[in-house]
Amino acid sequence: MATQNKPISQVATDRFDLRGRVVVITGGGKGIGKIYAREFAHAGAKVVAADVDGEGAQAVALDIVADGYEAIGLRCDISSAANVEAMARAALEKFGTIDVLVNNASLMSVLPRRDWMEIPVEEWDRVMEVNLRGMFLCCRAVAPTMKANRRGKIVNISSSRVWEGTPLRLHYTTSKAGVVGLTRALARELGEYGINVNAITPGATLSETQVASSSGNYLATRVDGRSFQRAQMPEDLVGAVMFLSTQASDFITGQTINVDGGKAMH
Ligand SMILES: NC(=O)c1ccc[n+]([C@@H]2O[C@H](COP(=O)([O-])OP(=O)(O)OC[C@H]3O[C@@H](n4cnc5c(N)ncnc54)[C@H](O)[C@@H]3O)[C@@H](O)[C@H]2O)c1
Repeated sequence: MATQNKPISQVATDRFDLRGRVVVITGGGKGIGKIYAREFAHAGAKVVAADVDGEGAQAVALDIVADGYEAIGLRCDISSAANVEAMARAALEKFGTIDVLVNNASLMSVLPRRDWMEIPVEEWDRVMEVNLRGMFLCCRAVAPTMKANRRGKIVNISSSRVWEGTPLRLHYTTSKAGVVGLTRALARELGEYGINVNAITPGATLSETQVASSSGNYLATRVDGRSFQRAQMPEDLVGAVMFLSTQASDFITGQTINVDGGKAMH
């Protein structure tokens, strides 16, 4: 066994090692994605922060580089196949490969909470374009590199709304249920190449965009039913996403981990 001659402590840390891994994080320009970008970089990964907010993505990358780590920030609308292909090419040009894709970008904080009958058809369609087509396009863009490497990690961000059936953003909740289906089926399609596809379902999280909006108070009060009676912060999600990005999760695929402080138990 490869581990036989190594000290016990190193055997453990190797499994969780992200040093040198190239990690693409969509929606990495603000909110929770910005925290993923920073934390992955600080763990030694080379980060590609891609966001429709290109200035935000570049600012995140500049901060990471100023701290002495590696990152680039790119503008990318994930609902556009051309944008997504260009983003993958830029990642390959800069860092030579893609090891991890964190599919974090979505339309969420910008969506009003309203009765389902009030949702305009155009808004429904745009949510599906970004949250589902965008995720499909990002997976498709990184797959050739991961297949050639015969390894890769895809981590899809869904929502605990799927378990709870949370109302008032019916299009958003529906799209996040689609993420679970995509995760399961794509895991079977990519298993033969050694590529893992998993998801997490965050509970209501106080990300910076949520704090800045009227949702801040609403979210801070959504601790009812949680085993841990406190607000959920972006940092609470990082460990699960990192676990699904490392060797430690190599035999886990098609799964969805709920990270909500112990509210929905499934
Ligand atoms: N905050 C929560 O309570 C919560 C709960 C469950 C799941 N989530 C999920 O976690 C992820 C991050 O949440 P957040 O709170 O940071 O959300 P957010 O709305 O603050 O951030 C979403 C990010 O995606 C980017 N984005 C939007 N459309 C895009 C597009 N077409 N192409 C590329 N980037 C685009 C935005 O610019 C932004 O940086 C999302 O997938 C969200 O659905 C959040």
